[in-house]
Amino acid sequence: MCTDRRIDKLIHLLVKNATVVVPGPKIASEIGVTRFKVHSWIDALRNLGVEIQGVLGKGYQLVTIPDILAPSLLRAELGDNPIGRHIVHYFRTDSTNAVALKLAAEGAEHGTVVVAEEQTSGRGRLGRAWFSEKASGIYTSIILRPPLAPAAASVLTLMAGLAAQKAVGSVTGLRVDIRWPNDLLVNGKKVCGILTEMSAEVDRLHAVVLGIGINVNHSLMPAELENIATSLRMEAHRGISRVQVLVTLLRELERYYQMLLKQGSKAITERWEAASSFAHGKRVRVVGAAGEVTATTTGVDPSGALKVQYDDGRQDALMAGEVVEVK
Ligand code: BTN
Repeated sequence: MCTDRRIDKLIHLLVKNATVVVPGPKIASEIGVTRFKVHSWIDALRNLGVEIQGVLGKGYQLVTIPDILAPSLLRAELGDNPIGRHIVHYFRTDSTNAVALKLAAEGAEHGTVVVAEEQTSGRGRLGRAWFSEKASGIYTSIILRPPLAPAAASVLTLMAGLAAQKAVGSVTGLRVDIRWPNDLLVNGKKVCGILTEMSAEVDRLHAVVLGIGINVNHSLMPAELENIATSLRMEAHRGISRVQVLVTLLRELERYYQMLLKQGSKAITERWEAASSFAHGKRVRVVGAAGEVTATTTGVDPSGALKVQYDDGRQDALMAGEVVEVK
């Protein structure tokens, strides 16, 4: 079940009155629930790491501004852009992509954002799982309804990678690379993955769901991932505001989406080539159904495919799959 709007109101009320103790009965009457309910929601927020002080007989006070991806906190920083105008929040869900695909099938508007503090079955590319630790990462899915043919979906994926690179780089100051098609790497390890899913007819996209997972404040990665994945906190050596990263990501997505609609896919693929060390002259292993083959990258074509030359001289344009740098 998505987050009760009244919990969002509670967060908003506490943030608005951050310098004072707010009496429990006042909170209860402003958001329209019992004092008991207020108390249990306060406990749920504390459980997510939000520091709220209870002052005996007086009420509640925030100790620090919470880094929780509540719609009221995000909306306060977003303008009137279509992307992010409508935000659906979950404390816990199976997969924000699964939720977004369902909402899209039910007619959710372009730009609707689904966000969760935790996923119990986060989906990765190529049938993998996505590690989705509670309140540490950003797990979000954005519904787009582009007036484009299904073939353009690959460019939307590259666009999402560019927007995420810009957002992570500008909020953290870290150098962020993009590995085709759209993994973000910091110091050679993955900090962000993007899973694009869509519903389409032969010649028309109904909806595209851009599912974006960013490892933000994880203080360590599980043993099986520690050689290939990291978090922004682990690389920047400080905590990073998830709210700031997500707000910047949504703004950047809007900017690149408008660029794609007005200037066409070349505007995106050219920028992607400039932003990724994987675009030209990178020695890679191409991982496919038939095994692994070594190649050198030679750019990205207007459809978003990665052009490669295999060591035996053959040329190819990869539409899907993955590449791994040969060191
Ligand atoms: C990858 O394998 O690199 C893609 C990972 C995508 C993970 C995100 S987290 C939010 C959204 N919901 C999901 O279930 N997956 C995507």
